[in-house]
Amino acid sequence: MLVPESELKWFSVQPSPGVFDFSGYRRMAAFAHANDMDMRGHVFVWHRANPDWLEGALTDRRTAEKILASHIKRVTQETAPLIRNWDVVNEAIDTESGREDGLREESIWLKALGPDYIPLAFKLAHAADPGLTLAYNDYGLEQGDGGNRRKRRCTLRMLEKCLRAGGPVHALGLQSHLQAHMPLAHNDFRSFLRDVRALGLALYITELDLDVSRLFGRMDDRIKLAQNYLRAYLDLVQEEGAIEMLLTWGLSDRYSWLRKDNPGLAGALPLDADFDRGPMWGTLKEGWLHI
Ligand code: G3I
Repeated sequence: MLVPESELKWFSVQPSPGVFDFSGYRRMAAFAHANDMDMRGHVFVWHRANPDWLEGALTDRRTAEKILASHIKRVTQETAPLIRNWDVVNEAIDTESGREDGLREESIWLKALGPDYIPLAFKLAHAADPGLTLAYNDYGLEQGDGGNRRKRRCTLRMLEKCLRAGGPVHALGLQSHLQAHMPLAHNDFRSFLRDVRALGLALYITELDLDVSRLFGRMDDRIKLAQNYLRAYLDLVQEEGAIEMLLTWGLSDRYSWLRKDNPGLAGALPLDADFDRGPMWGTLKEGWLHI
């Protein structure tokens, strides 16, 4: 399954008001088609990767709703029938938020529409194509520190509210940008996953990668540590509910977003920078995938 990292974000598909550009997406879709692969959509509503004109155009509620509705409609028209599963809202919770509900304050959608922008986005996606499966997607839910704990609490509350307001959210995407030097959350994370499943949501791992840059010691030991960490995480998630989908955020270390801060990046993804199979390939193969 292919997920465009950038090609379906706002700045790619609607660079100017009402002007749509699907050239990047179409190149990927042709590849997916030729190789008999599915695709998944990312993303309709995010505080980043928006074109410069967008924030200023959201002048009032009615206009903002109209712009969002027509964007979602045009993009789903273009991507159906290939894409049936979408990240509708991405990263709406911010651990640093001064708001009690933890909603991300810099979101242009929160500013224009208030907290209802979340159920609204899900309703609009459903109205555009009722057969789509719709996910909320976020990072920073997996680990054990205080910020992650607050994020889990606020995310759960937000999902409950969204459902109560009639927003058809079907799944939670755990981005899973893991850091091998940070402890996993174990019990708190387990009960979060149970609570999410009790709301009737499916669980996906949507953007798995593993930052191993702050492990020290002999290479063999570091590889073992990283593999054990990933195995522990995947086992934990699997024990709390069948994972319906596992996606890594890229395939090779060469093109990972993590490379920007770490040019010598190694071991974050299944393939190394030379496209050879690395330790993560082995871990996924052992217990997880038939690859
Ligand atoms: O396409 C332009 C190119 O024309 C230009 O020359 C170049 C110069 O900087 O920039 C290119 O755009 C970059 C784009 O990636 C290309 O794919 C942007 O600067 C860069 O900011 C953008 O980064 C992406 C980032 O999201 C922001 O959209 C990363 O590739 C992508 O991996 C990252 O993905 C996010 C998920 O959407 C949400 N979860 C976290 C994840 C990692 O940050």
